[in-house]
Amino acid sequence: STSEIVRIVEVGPRDGLQNEKATIPADVKVQLINRLGRAGMRIIEAGSFVSPKWVPQMASSAEILNSIERLPGVRYPVLVPNQKGLDSLDIPHAAPTDEIAVFTAATDAFNKANTNVTVAESLDRLAPVVRDALDLGLRVRGYVSVVIACPYSGRVDARQVRDVTKALLDMGCYEVSLGDTVGQGTPHQVTALLEEVTKDVDVEKLAGHFHDTFGMAIANVFAALSAGVRTIDSSIGGLGGCPYSPGATGNVATEDVIYALRGSPYSIDGNPDLDSLVDIGWWISAQIGRENASRVGNAIRSR
Ligand code: HMG
Ligand code: MG
Repeated sequence: STSEIVRIVEVGPRDGLQNEKATIPADVKVQLINRLGRAGMRIIEAGSFVSPKWVPQMASSAEILNSIERLPGVRYPVLVPNQKGLDSLDIPHAAPTDEIAVFTAATDAFNKANTNVTVAESLDRLAPVVRDALDLGLRVRGYVSVVIACPYSGRVDARQVRDVTKALLDMGCYEVSLGDTVGQGTPHQVTALLEEVTKDVDVEKLAGHFHDTFGMAIANVFAALSAGVRTIDSSIGGLGGCPYSPGATGNVATEDVIYALRGSPYSIDGNPDLDSLVDIGWWISAQIGRENASRVGNAIRSR
């Protein structure tokens, strides 16, 4: 039987901010992470050690990681695309985190746009990075992007998602997050995708990462929960977008996921406080000059 505890991975400080053009002051990012931790989020994706030429906004990640308040029981994973990214964490000397996430995709076209290599090349490149990271005592999460539709090559074959997911788990990732990067998927497609992927992979090892471009993200979260997925990625204020997924909007809003689970058989790890999160969503949206994309945040604020 599956657990009724749902874990939320707060990706706002990373996915939520990586696509912002204007440089966000480090101090705002640090405050965001600190406030999310105090509101009860247990896993906060805090930055990316990627090439600053590719994603300039994340260039301050080392500085951020060194300035945050580390709350007990809270994990602060960061994205790492290659050996250089892992080396720059300077484990065990500086050790700004104990968890990384590596990422690839279900299609070559997207993966080339995002990381300059095909899927097969990326798996070859990541295998020794994951091995080194595990040797250094880090936990390693995996991401597969464009699991339903690809902005460059259209409809994605679920068998390809299954194979890439399996490859990441075989490398040593403890979990793989399936990304609807484009935010075009429907609940029925999520169900069909998970049916295919779980032929080879335990559902406990999967997470759902849904962008909300078509307004389907909260419905897709529930399709994933119904299929047994118990880890959901979300972003405060519904911030977010991938620089290499043109037109895609932010992730499902953390506030909306928490509200949607109220009164359900599911409890959320860390028992995050919705009112605090609504405040944080308004605060960070104002800081970066964006509309608050959380429907729940808007409803509660205007009550
Ligand atoms: P490349 O240009 O092929 O790599 O990029 P390179 O090895 O030729 O390096 C180019 C330059 O970058 C060199 O500098 C390197 O030193 C530097 P130069 O010699 O020209 O001065 N460099 C680095 N600097 C800092 N940290 C590093 C690093 N690596 C190289 N780690 C590379 C290949 C993978 C580096 C690049 O494509 C890249 O950084 N891509 C990251 C793209 C990205 O961050 N995308 C967003 C995150 S994924 C996402 O949002 C999807 C997700 O949310 C799930 C979903 O929604 O689907 C997770
Ligand atoms: Mg994303």
